[in-house]
Amino acid sequence: MLLCKTVSEMHDACRSLRNAEHTLGLVPTMGALHAGHLSLATAARAQNDAVAASIFVNPMQFGPHEDYEAYPRDFDEDYHKLESAGVHVLFAPSAEDMFPPGNTTYVDTGDLGSRLDGASRPGHFRGVATIVARLFHIVRPDRAYFGQKDAAQVAVLRRMVRDLNFPVQLVVCPIVREHDGLALSSRNRYLTSVERRRALILSQALAAVGQLVEQRETRAEVLQAAMRQTFAADREVRVDYAAVVDPETLLPVEDIFGGALIAVATWIGSTRLIDNLLITPRS
Ligand code: PAJ
Repeated sequence: MLLCKTVSEMHDACRSLRNAEHTLGLVPTMGALHAGHLSLATAARAQNDAVAASIFVNPMQFGPHEDYEAYPRDFDEDYHKLESAGVHVLFAPSAEDMFPPGNTTYVDTGDLGSRLDGASRPGHFRGVATIVARLFHIVRPDRAYFGQKDAAQVAVLRRMVRDLNFPVQLVVCPIVREHDGLALSSRNRYLTSVERRRALILSQALAAVGQLVEQRETRAEVLQAAMRQTFAADREVRVDYAAVVDPETLLPVEDIFGGALIAVATWIGSTRLIDNLLITPRS
């Protein structure tokens, strides 16, 4: 695996791959890699001649009181995991190289970027869209791989690709979970063992919705009541949102007949966790 630490090295490496008429898949990450990230690399490997991954803890998508400094960084371990997953080129730039002084250009994600996580993390999606746009320009991938785990991120990036005519296909991969249902996240390592058990409440709330959907319930208010009831079982849990929305606009829907995204975000202690369930349209 080739390691590129600067924008210009990465630019050259990706240009050579494209000149060799390879199709190129890109897996953007912030490192602290787990099986969820690696599932994206595996999908990219299966669908492209060459795979590029990036590790960059993007300061622009963290709020002033968030965990940018504390965010786990495990470069050596990550390097080996990506190499074993068959990644060909790894891009791991410094913040100075990605954002040289005088940087003033951003991707504005509009109202869409202020919904769900964007509501409680102002500026988050502007930071995500800006860094992903830059990665797309540097790498120019044919396909880029993202996890359904971050459903609002997927909606924002799909819209960006459409609105700014990026010549890239977004591939969205399913959520990878622990055996007990907890969605894998780099932030799970912040949890104490007690919090780790309490964190199951997110997937339990979604499972309660899933059961109702199987019984052909389509009213959003009934699904929301089921989530509220699950969360009420833990008095300490702080719910940020438990939403039934359109997966593209992230606006609330009253009925899930045409498909919906059920998305939850809670704080378990001081750790904010998210999870979701995508419901396909009824036929
Ligand atoms: P990060 O949180 O490192 O996640 C990188 C990718 O892995 C994202 O597309 C995310 O949705 C996916 N992912 C995380 N947990 C997953 C799981 N349990 N199952 C499947 N996929 C999972 O998301 C980001 O980084 C950043 O915002 C980034 C897109 C890299 C821009 O900085």
